[in-house]
Amino acid sequence: MTDAAFLTDKPQVEGFFDPATWTVTYVVHKGPGSACAIVDSVLDYDPKSGRTRTTSADKVIGFVKTNRLTVEWILETHAHADHLSAAPYLKKHLGGLIAIGDQITRVQKVFKGLFNLEPEFKPDGSQFDVLLKDEQAFRIGELHARVMAVPGHTPACVAYQVGDAVFVGDTLFMPDVGTARCDFPGGDAHTLYASVRKILDLPPQTRLFMCHDYPPNDRPVAFETTVAEQRASNIHVHDGVSQAQFVEMRTKRDATLDMPVLILPAVQINIRAGEMPPQEQNGTAYVKIPINAL
Ligand SMILES: [Fe+2]
Repeated sequence: MTDAAFLTDKPQVEGFFDPATWTVTYVVHKGPGSACAIVDSVLDYDPKSGRTRTTSADKVIGFVKTNRLTVEWILETHAHADHLSAAPYLKKHLGGLIAIGDQITRVQKVFKGLFNLEPEFKPDGSQFDVLLKDEQAFRIGELHARVMAVPGHTPACVAYQVGDAVFVGDTLFMPDVGTARCDFPGGDAHTLYASVRKILDLPPQTRLFMCHDYPPNDRPVAFETTVAEQRASNIHVHDGVSQAQFVEMRTKRDATLDMPVLILPAVQINIRAGEMPPQEQNGTAYVKIPINAL
């Protein structure tokens, strides 16, 4: 299918903003009674107590049930560092296949080493139901979808185009926020610039849905924009910003950023497709904190 052909499908998109992690979960569908995909779900996690809750995921389940949607896909744009995925919980209650970009194996290899994970953990992506390749086409019921590899924030990031809607993952943020950081293991600002330009080469009216919003100056939370708006006014990558200018800005800015609060629990659970680590002999699962390693 050509870029223009995708624009004829105009799916409905419901966004669920999680104020604790600034993350947006999406349900994309063709209307009540149709098939749907869930993109980037959130399992609530309190780092102080180590306790999980399903308040955010239950809102998504409520929406899916109210609209009589059939979940075909539970999609991840990448192994998130700022929230835990609720994919296994959603799959248990709603069905669907858990999918991520096939380069996740590179991220799994790095973090298997960092966390010294058990030998049984295979960095081969087998924890996910489906590994998706760049440009792979798939269907969500009648909706046409495809994968776009958009590395840079991590080496395994993908965006999902569903009709005229693109779920950009951690590439672009809203125009007044800019772009995602590139300083995690395997991240690269040159690569992110190329990925962002790939998204911005789509037709101007293409709808873009952000993975996060960090609203500045009391602006209300927002997470939908267009290619045209991003090209005109994204503070980091509007038309005219060169790759060299972007890389210089991004590198300087990344040097000032703290690690996300949940990076250590989030990454070691998300590379397991959202499953908790294996329980120890006492029946409890633990997350590890590597000292002076990250
Ligand atoms: Fe991320």
